[in-house]
Amino acid sequence: MIPKAELHCHLEGSVPPELARELAARNGLDLPAGLFGKDGHYAWTDFLSFLDAYDRVCGVLRTARDFGDIFYSYLQRTAAEGAVYVEMFCSPERPKALGIAYAVWLGALVEAIDRARRDFGIEGRIIAVCIRHLGPDRALALAQQIVAEPHPYVVALGMGGDEGKFSPADFAPAYRLAHDKGLGCTVHAGEVRGPESVRAAIRDLPVSRIGHGVRSVEDPGLVDELIRRGIALEVCPGSNLALGLYRNRDAHPLHRLIAAGVRVTLNSDDPPFFHTTLGTEYDEAGLDAAALRTITRTAIETSFADEPLKEKLLKGMTA
Ligand code: ADE
Ligand code: ZN
Repeated sequence: MIPKAELHCHLEGSVPPELARELAARNGLDLPAGLFGKDGHYAWTDFLSFLDAYDRVCGVLRTARDFGDIFYSYLQRTAAEGAVYVEMFCSPERPKALGIAYAVWLGALVEAIDRARRDFGIEGRIIAVCIRHLGPDRALALAQQIVAEPHPYVVALGMGGDEGKFSPADFAPAYRLAHDKGLGCTVHAGEVRGPESVRAAIRDLPVSRIGHGVRSVEDPGLVDELIRRGIALEVCPGSNLALGLYRNRDAHPLHRLIAAGVRVTLNSDDPPFFHTTLGTEYDEAGLDAAALRTITRTAIETSFADEPLKEKLLKGMTA
């Protein structure tokens, strides 16, 4: 099995329907009406209704243990597909809304990472993610929280949510703070919006990676700049196809980005929403084993893990 590493997966977006049912039952909650379609999968029709379905899954979570159990089960499933490292987008906004203290929520995630390492030999790390449509003030408060209570497993600041709201420059204070304190930085851009969104992100934010960024391919000057600056793309083809950005895998720019020399990684984003997994992304990428190994090496090198861990993971690939 090809060793794999993942840099772009959302914790709540990783919950399979069976686990959502289990957590709802454990918390004595009814599942939200319309959450599932007739086929038993999450029901949504476009990007904004996907974000809405995502929020409704979040609605079945109540306790710090819920968040930890989701992370552990994801690490278990992904390790079974050959993953050695997962960097997970985790939103402190969700536990905060439930009245769960940051340290308690984080403690559950840390315990999940430690347990998964012992049980499956996989490493996990956390990207604290702010939600773009909640605005820059909330993002700054989140950045202040993660730097006030640092933890070695919280390695970066990220941002998802509705790319149509605000501009990257609005979030510069949050990103500058995180960057100044030594955290990695990544941001979703060039997914729903075009290359101008990636240009703005890399001009105004101290990011070394872009979440998605696939629409950069429409702007050759931007592709050159990504290469020159070594900025990596967290590419999620299955997510892009499910959200209708591209008709099929042949139309997806993955191969063009690789051929141009952009640093590219493969990721699942919100796997059960998009009927994919990390293993599926590797299997369906249309790349040979050597190219897939290069992708894993790129993921490890551009990850926000510390240098000793990166070295250990890279060494493990040649073992
Ligand atoms: N949050 C979860 N998945 C996302 C995506 N694909 N784009 C933006 N925000 C998200
Ligand atoms: Zn995402």
